[in-house]
Amino acid sequence: MPPQLVAPTLAVHASFLAAMDEFRAEGAESVPHSGLARELTTWRSRWPTAEGFAAYVELAGGVLRDPRVDGVVPMTTRWWVDGDSYLGRVTFRHHLTPSLLTWGGHIGYAVRPGARRRGHATAILRAALPVAHHELGIDPVLVTCDDTNTGSRRVIEACGGVFEDQRDEKLRYWISAGAAASQRPHRPV
Ligand SMILES: CC(C)(COP(=O)(O)OP(=O)(O)OC[C@H]1O[C@@H](n2cnc3c(N)ncnc32)[C@H](O)[C@@H]1OP(=O)(O)O)[C@@H](O)C(=O)NCCC(=O)NCCS
Repeated sequence: MPPQLVAPTLAVHASFLAAMDEFRAEGAESVPHSGLARELTTWRSRWPTAEGFAAYVELAGGVLRDPRVDGVVPMTTRWWVDGDSYLGRVTFRHHLTPSLLTWGGHIGYAVRPGARRRGHATAILRAALPVAHHELGIDPVLVTCDDTNTGSRRVIEACGGVFEDQRDEKLRYWISAGAAASQRPHRPV
């Protein structure tokens, strides 16, 4: 079976820990405004135990409340998983605040460093669009990336992102999630 977007699951514990070590090794903990950085800092000591990981999975599987400078935004997380292997994740912010409209967008994704450049991020965003449209009612979807993030820019453009503008270092794209979901069925990587 190809990788799938699933709710956070206990089944990937070992590979999740390895993936978090990879993120830490590339300095993900110090990326400003990053949810992953926040989690690496607050959860790292609890993830290795079965109880700690179970508590995290339960929390991450619900609708989280993402604290922003200009408001708290409900947020849903899905993991990109191949069998018992954790490959990455996507987060959906259910609505935009002024700072998300300018800067962060609705959807963020990350692929573990050891699994990059194999098409996973493109497949994650493609699989995320029907979730945004059908499950969460987010449409159109704003996706942003740094102007230096060539990989993410290519992902967004491959998934039908229509460039609106650049604000500071952020490139801002809109995707019609319903149209993309009906035109581009998810293909395995
Ligand atoms: C950006 C990121 C998500 C890309 O993940 P990925 O699984 O490697 O992406 P893909 O394999 O789907 O690559 C998509 C395209 O970008 C290209 N690409 C990927 N990483 C690249 C890089 N570092 N430099 C140049 N091109 C890159 C791929 O070759 C591919 O090109 P193609 O369009 O010719 O096929 C991943 O590097 C990551 O998690 N980075 C940290 C978090 C992050 O930046 N998230 C995005 C926030 S907006």
